[in-house]
Amino acid sequence: MGKKVKGPPMAPVKQADDGTAKQEAEGKATAEDSLEKSAISGKSESKNIVAKTRKILEKIRPPVEESQADELLALMQNDGYPKPENWQLSPKMAELFICGTDEEFKYKINGESKKTSISTKYYGDKNLVQKSIVTLASERALMLIGEPGTAKSWLSEHLAAAISGKSTCLIQGTAGTTEDQIRYSWNYALLVAEGPTPRALVPSPTINAMRSGKILRFEEMTRCSQEIQDCMVSILSEKVIPVPELGSEYLVFGKPGFNTIATANDRDRGVNEMSAALKRRFNFIYIPVIQDKELEKKIVIKRTSDLLERMGFEIQLPKDVLDLLVTVFQDLRSGKSGSGGRFSPISTVMSTSEEISVLLDSAIYAYYFGKQKIEAEHLAMNIIDAVVKDDKENLAKLREYLNIEVRSRASGSSVWDRFYKAMNELSNR
Ligand SMILES: Nc1ncnc2c1ncn2[C@@H]1O[C@H](COP(=O)(O)OP(=O)(O)O)[C@@H](O)[C@H]1O
Ligand SMILES: [Mg+2]
Repeated sequence: MGKKVKGPPMAPVKQADDGTAKQEAEGKATAEDSLEKSAISGKSESKNIVAKTRKILEKIRPPVEESQADELLALMQNDGYPKPENWQLSPKMAELFICGTDEEFKYKINGESKKTSISTKYYGDKNLVQKSIVTLASERALMLIGEPGTAKSWLSEHLAAAISGKSTCLIQGTAGTTEDQIRYSWNYALLVAEGPTPRALVPSPTINAMRSGKILRFEEMTRCSQEIQDCMVSILSEKVIPVPELGSEYLVFGKPGFNTIATANDRDRGVNEMSAALKRRFNFIYIPVIQDKELEKKIVIKRTSDLLERMGFEIQLPKDVLDLLVTVFQDLRSGKSGSGGRFSPISTVMSTSEEISVLLDSAIYAYYFGKQKIEAEHLAMNIIDAVVKDDKENLAKLREYLNIEVRSRASGSSVWDRFYKAMNELSNR
């Protein structure tokens, strides 16, 4: 039987006059921390509540500077450390924002005194976070590179919010990204009416970031063709964009604080190599796949409960079901099991982010069609979908894994046995 583990002391939900529930900000981080500790240790026998409070949001996904406004404010008000020009937080406080701390910070908001600890945003090597921050304080831009689903975009967004207070100066790189989207374009009605004037210039996210001294985020840079990527070379080295249509002297200058965080997946198909000239403008930081099982559990449960908070329902996650999920992902990722079994690795990227989606979908399924408890069968269903995706060959590899590994585990554990049976049935359909 799965051991039930205790959920966090959730923040109360207040019914406001207009009928909208508002979550008390205080105690938020403490709740998250105790969720992590209890879910991992399994010390308590009471049920594990993945999410209970309902966060009423106007945006499905507000930017970090909005969703974490209280923590950012608390760090700003307590920041006595040296900081680069135009940075909202010092490097030290930016690191605390990303890596989290139990230390409580007092802060004032609308004349009211409050305090908060700082929740962990990125789980992993602190050194890597520090190196990223140092790069952004230097002349070079930052390139976060690694497998899909390792939190590159997540880290980029949180770094930009911490450093600039704004994470939305954003270019999403695709095969269709044009030079205009990186530099500037024109409002054609104004262009026709008055010719090229500063008023007719439509600034890109790059120009907005340069003018305001903020961080520009360039997602999936290597999806753009090399010529398009190379627009960034002069921007990164000169910190200037010339606009010749407005005169040979017209230049948009980068204000101190401007820098760029780019991300790139090193495993995606169809990526374009970066030119040597562009590579030289970046410090590359490799974001590793999480290998540690306990750490991965922590991330998966924390992010799933964050996402479930929006839906506001209660779900039990037995400890052995969580353990099964993380074990299956780690096995499939590496093509070998903890007990030494080997099987053909599947082509789908079994990332932490995919794991979060599997757990979230299982939770939603369990809530609407199950017994408010995530069961092995829910995981089986969602794991098959996640693994097979568009490559039918993965199904054969998954069966191999079932026969080599899952079957032997099934003989000694009821949760593995249920998982084995459900997987077998679903994979033979
Ligand atoms: N080490 C980690 N710490 C915190 N969250 C993580 C970690 N690894 C993965 N995640 C979660 O995985 C999700 C996907 O991350 P994302 O930034 O989109 O990946 P990438 O850009 O590398 O493809 C995010 O919700 C993030 O919270
Ligand atoms: Mg990404």
